[in-house]
Amino acid sequence: MDKLVMDEAKMKRLTERMKGQMNISWAKEALMLKRFGVEDGQSILEIGSGPGFITDRLAEMYPSSPVTAVEIEPYFAAYARSHLIPKWGERVHVVEDDVTEPRNLPSGQYDVAIARLVFQHLSAPEAAASQLYRLLKPGGKLIVLDVDDAVWGIVDPLIPELGFILNQHAKEQSAEGGDRFIGRKLWRILRGAGFVQLDLQMIASHSDELGLEAFVPQTDPEEMRTMVNSGFITERELESAQAAIRNFLNLPDAYALLLMLAFYGEKPHSRN
Ligand SMILES: C[S@@+](CC[C@H](N)C(=O)[O-])C[C@H]1O[C@@H](n2cnc3c(N)ncnc32)[C@H](O)[C@@H]1O
Repeated sequence: MDKLVMDEAKMKRLTERMKGQMNISWAKEALMLKRFGVEDGQSILEIGSGPGFITDRLAEMYPSSPVTAVEIEPYFAAYARSHLIPKWGERVHVVEDDVTEPRNLPSGQYDVAIARLVFQHLSAPEAAASQLYRLLKPGGKLIVLDVDDAVWGIVDPLIPELGFILNQHAKEQSAEGGDRFIGRKLWRILRGAGFVQLDLQMIASHSDELGLEAFVPQTDPEEMRTMVNSGFITERELESAQAAIRNFLNLPDAYALLLMLAFYGEKPHSRN
């Protein structure tokens, strides 16, 4: 398989994984958006929108809102356009751009900016927060949904082999410029960019409520294989983790809990 085809296979896998991830927690995330005061008619900027599944939910939930999705990866931007534009027409825009230094987005235009599972991938999260501050209208709201690996995935019984793989995954993401421990830094990053009225809430999704099968896409073996290819785990470690996960999923009392952090901040109406 040549590199282009391999990359496309990886994108397709990631796309499916993101869909599964959204299905786990979207209902509670939607309630959180309401709690943070997002209202129909407000203009919404969604950054790092990936294949556009969240964009689609936002367009549905806020039927009078213009929604702009920003995505750096051309494959995801094209995928998002292919299903969003036929469905929503001109109300939804997909812009290919880098949120840390956007070239195609106007200042002071948006009522709400939403970044879901994006800050953990950014090598310059402070720059992204400053740009979002610039892009929002005075009084505009920023909502950042993200993780901190220390509290993200909790299982019972423990799966030590999976714990090892997740540690290696955090190292891999860090080598790519990201940070799976971004959760503990985000409050200060938002405050440093000038946001006020900060708030931090938790969104808990767990298998006693949703069923264990909802969490299966999070254990995609092929996605873990990419860590063998990049040298962060060995083939033997992968096989041992996969066997441990299979055993876990077959246990009658297996339990999984995912905790997402929900940050809120506002751009002040005027700087004092
Ligand atoms: C884990 S995905 C989340 C996708 C979507 N927000 C969701 O929750 O389903 C992170 C996305 O952020 C995009 N991304 C990463 N760095 C970016 C940047 N600097 N500017 C814009 N998008 C970026 C990635 O390409 C990827 O599609």
